[in-house]
Amino acid sequence: MSDRNTHVLDLYTRHPISAQQIIAKVRALRGHLENLTPEDLYPHDQDHYGGLSANDALAERASIHRDEHVADFCAGLGGPARYFSRRFGAEVTGIDLNPARVHGAAELTALVGLESRVRVIEGDVTRTGLPSAAFDVVVSQEALLHVPDKAAAVAEASRLLRPGGRLAFTDWIVHRPLSPHEAETMWHGLGAQTLQSVEGYRELLSVAGFALLSVEDLTDEWGVILEQRFAMYRELRQETLRQGLPAGNEEFYAA
Ligand SMILES: C[S@@+](CC[C@H](N)C(=O)[O-])C[C@H]1O[C@@H](n2cnc3c(N)ncnc32)[C@H](O)[C@@H]1O
Repeated sequence: MSDRNTHVLDLYTRHPISAQQIIAKVRALRGHLENLTPEDLYPHDQDHYGGLSANDALAERASIHRDEHVADFCAGLGGPARYFSRRFGAEVTGIDLNPARVHGAAELTALVGLESRVRVIEGDVTRTGLPSAAFDVVVSQEALLHVPDKAAAVAEASRLLRPGGRLAFTDWIVHRPLSPHEAETMWHGLGAQTLQSVEGYRELLSVAGFALLSVEDLTDEWGVILEQRFAMYRELRQETLRQGLPAGNEEFYAA
């Protein structure tokens, strides 16, 4: 595994959102873990900006239908995967680099009884090992920033899709090249590497054979969400520190 993936792995192993933290929170709220539904987890298991409405926007752009096979690139704890299954009836295979995320996803998915429809496997989205042309849709939420070779990730999505399949994703983009200091801060704190511009993504998608249907730049809306998210992380950090669980590092908060 590359050093760059090792750093990203490490960041998510110490991330303030973890399966243990979610389970502790749900247990504290409900008093027990009996008869949990995916809805009980939604306030806690979505590791991207914009929560469930971002999932709905992505599902709409990807046109996800009942019983379609969806691959979720960088699925994390499986929050979006469970949502796509529960809300749209899809069968979802998530791929995530981090074994703790993969185990956490399995634990949370089993707790809400979706294990026959949702699985998250350990792997790198640039080479998933999944069969070609086996999926109707590939989605990814706010994670390709961590993948150094985005051309390889997009090509892998193309390989997994059946003819006529759809790819929809969100990612952080840059409007100008980052200064070396900015790039270093983003790398050390957030594992963000080779951030693309919209134009860069257009090119990558076209080379991989995709016909581009729409691009949306959410910079203005996300500025507000980012502030809320940062406040939430700071609060979570105090909670996780009190519970003695991994709670992120200083560079994360600086970035
Ligand atoms: C911000 S989280 C997003 C998780 C999920 N998409 C969500 O919205 O809840 C980013 C995830 O990308 C995963 N990741 C990073 N690089 C990866 C790679 N090369 N292949 C697969 N997963 C990767 C991390 O382990 C982490 O779980």
